[in-house]
Amino acid sequence: MAKITASVFTSHVPAIGAAIDLGKTAEPYWQPLFKGYEYSKQWLKDNKPDVIFLVFNDHATAFSLDMIPTFAIGTAASYQPADEGWGPRPVPVVQGHPELAAHIAQSVIQQDFDLTIVNKMDVDHGLTVPLSLMCGQPEAWPCPVIPFAVNVVQYPVPSGQRCLNLGKAIRKAIESFDQDLNVQIWGTGGMSHQLQGPRAGLINKDFDGAFMDLMIKDPEAQAAVPHINYVREAGSEGIELVMWLIARGAMSDLDGGKPPTVKHRFYHVPASNTAVGHLILQNNP
Ligand code: DHB
Ligand code: FE
Repeated sequence: MAKITASVFTSHVPAIGAAIDLGKTAEPYWQPLFKGYEYSKQWLKDNKPDVIFLVFNDHATAFSLDMIPTFAIGTAASYQPADEGWGPRPVPVVQGHPELAAHIAQSVIQQDFDLTIVNKMDVDHGLTVPLSLMCGQPEAWPCPVIPFAVNVVQYPVPSGQRCLNLGKAIRKAIESFDQDLNVQIWGTGGMSHQLQGPRAGLINKDFDGAFMDLMIKDPEAQAAVPHINYVREAGSEGIELVMWLIARGAMSDLDGGKPPTVKHRFYHVPASNTAVGHLILQNNP
């Protein structure tokens, strides 16, 4: 059977992608940020998954105000990189895993979560920047990826509790797949940031630190935090953090297992207009 072995959490700031693509990672502004991911790149090489289930948000690249799915699962064989702002990144095409994705869609929908099934989709920095941070600049990404897009751009957005519960359903779905696959689940977005209006540039280190503490020790408590608190405390784009709860909800301890081991924790300010947070949690058998 397939097994979820670990979860990875990281911000996805587009300027990080541009820094990688333009060869600026050693510059004094960026060097401390990329140093925080050196451990992670080695960890991923040493713990190479067969599939990554990657929770991210689209930024009006694949979707627009014409159509706003709350939760969308990618069931395609491949996904082209695309982006607003800097344009499509020069990164490998993302290979999918249609068979596992279709199984997860079947299982999660039968567990009463409405998912939109997406057979064709481009993927933006929300998905490619986390891959670049964890893998560097390979010729091909190390394994297939199932993109799972969450609407955190246009209100109403899903609650933290719904995201945590969805993670639990995704866990059941993955662990009922009839192939021995090592699956990692990644949650991306955040940390605190606000990109527009009088509060543009807002960073709240205390909120970010407390969020990461609860993500490790008490995700049920974090799930009870209403979305308005994220917006008030972590800025209008800080709401991206609810996506971390989907990945966290899929870990074993929320299904009667042991607490995960914290393999890595990193926090850095600034990256463009945002704080960057990163965690690697490994399941214990
Ligand atoms: C920016 C955009 C994002 O989508 C994000 O999550 C963080 C920062 C930006 O434009 O700086
Ligand atoms: Fe974003």
